[in-house]
Amino acid sequence: MKIKEILRKKDFSHADICDLLRIDNKSDFELLRNRAYEVMKEHCGEKVFLRGLVEFSNICKCDCNYCGIRKSNKDVERYLLNKEDILAAARKSVENGYASFVMQSGDRDDPKFIDYVIDVVKAVKEATVSEKLPKGLGITLCIGEQTYEDYKRLFDAGIHRYLLRIETTNEKLFNKLHTVEQSYHKRVKCLKMLKDIGYQVGTGVLIGFPEQTIEDLAYDVLFFKEMDVDMIGMGPYIVHKNTPMAHYFDEYQAKKQETFELGIKMIAVCRIVLKDVNIASTTALQAMYDDGREQGLLCGANVLMPQHSPFNVRKQYQLYEGKPFLDETDKSSLEDLERRVHSIGRTLGYHEWGDSRHFRKK
Ligand code: 5AD
Repeated sequence: MKIKEILRKKDFSHADICDLLRIDNKSDFELLRNRAYEVMKEHCGEKVFLRGLVEFSNICKCDCNYCGIRKSNKDVERYLLNKEDILAAARKSVENGYASFVMQSGDRDDPKFIDYVIDVVKAVKEATVSEKLPKGLGITLCIGEQTYEDYKRLFDAGIHRYLLRIETTNEKLFNKLHTVEQSYHKRVKCLKMLKDIGYQVGTGVLIGFPEQTIEDLAYDVLFFKEMDVDMIGMGPYIVHKNTPMAHYFDEYQAKKQETFELGIKMIAVCRIVLKDVNIASTTALQAMYDDGREQGLLCGANVLMPQHSPFNVRKQYQLYEGKPFLDETDKSSLEDLERRVHSIGRTLGYHEWGDSRHFRKK
């Protein structure tokens, strides 16, 4: 079927999605991108919402084969930011006019850690209530798999969005990339618990793993739809040298352009299929090409998560090689971000939580 005809459809089959992801010529890509942009405009508007990102700890109990902060990587100096540093990052977000904040760390589920996160979240909320932000900063958490009780305690502390990537919905591939302690089914269960508690739930996948196919990615898109998620954060897989997948580096280099294009096509396809969810244009896109995040926005993404972690710890949070260390709290960088967003005809959604419209409609 012609791309034009597929794009006119209301419902998309697995085969349709595969066809869209296989687009390999400029004119069809333009059709896809324009349609995604149109859908975004209609269902989400053109504003780009901002979330200040603080990577508050790189201590991780997991040993994912692709990740630079995996437990077995002894070359990483482990850290946990103190409350003051996290509060400073939160205040900086507010100063910059960002109404939302993302707290991300390695996976950890010990009671001491959860208690600490709860304490910090309450402090962030308290410190950021103002006339402009009567409910304080909107907070998204990304600290991995937890029990129902702990998800609930975190929710009650004031977190209202949670990101937990499924990474891939191909169970065989999932098992190959993770250790036996991790399971695809457990992760799905966690996503369901989050939904049940009332969080706005985000998930996502890595794009361009060795052995991952277009068919797999099309199933990933259908999974997002079936799970009725509110937010999507996904990006290309980038090799890290201190992982068991380091040997894949040459192949990754050779396929870099193709993987990047697949990354932005996934954004466009998710926009077209899921319509009113929030979709982030992630740092991994920017790590591959300087204008990567702008390209993601042009394909229908509507969220950016600029770095607000203290400068001295950024080198210790290298999930992948070449992660940019821009000081996005700095005035000149803020202006640069604004200039980049304006250059593609978009505006920034300052002082707004920018919740997923999909969630609001529920
Ligand atoms: N390349 C790109 N993204 C990665 N992540 C982890 N390792 C890599 C990598 N090598 C992503 C995972 C995780 C998120 C926090 O970072 O998808 O969920």
